[in-house]
Amino acid sequence: MRGDIERVLISRERIAERIRALGAEITRDLDALGPEAEIVFVPILTGSLLFIADLVRELPRKVRITVVTVSSYPGTSTSAGQARIIGSLPDNLAGRHVIIVDDILDSGGTITLIRGELSQRRPSSLKTCVLLRKLIPSALAIPCEYVGFDIPDEFVVGYGLDYDNYYRNLPEVCTLKREVL
Ligand code: IMP
Ligand code: MG
Repeated sequence: MRGDIERVLISRERIAERIRALGAEITRDLDALGPEAEIVFVPILTGSLLFIADLVRELPRKVRITVVTVSSYPGTSTSAGQARIIGSLPDNLAGRHVIIVDDILDSGGTITLIRGELSQRRPSSLKTCVLLRKLIPSALAIPCEYVGFDIPDEFVVGYGLDYDNYYRNLPEVCTLKREVL
């Protein structure tokens, strides 16, 4: 697996440090809502699996987690697949403060789809948190309150992000050698 890596873009230490800072920022914002505020994190699977696991452990307060599963990029790194919801969406979000969590903001299709669906469920507030955002116009045009890292427009894997469902278990965010893709 490691032989397929071209370059480590973000080390595990930098990821951990940034998630601690994001956790502190989100905690400050949640505390401002008051102790009675109901918080629901909605991680988008499978890519945000590792990110949400580390992020919520930085939050010293009661929160709920309700996952949604979205499929895109079936198989390859290049096909700009339409985001598609698999299974059901949470339907008990009314009056709650909702934070959508995803691995990466690229075309923006996934976040736009989920934001649209969840906003119809009348949450008190709806925010978005991504580990990575590509520095491209489509990603920068999407409102996103919490961003871990802005990265160049390259295909990355690791720390939850996959190529053909592999490489999610790499602890770093990496690019792959050309011959692997
Ligand atoms: P978007 O809908 O184009 O913004 O892309 C969001 C989804 O596409 C992410 O949740 C990932 O699953 C996938 N994706 C986009 N860019 C990458 C990448 O560079 N590496 C791995 N997956 C990616
Ligand atoms: Mg993916």
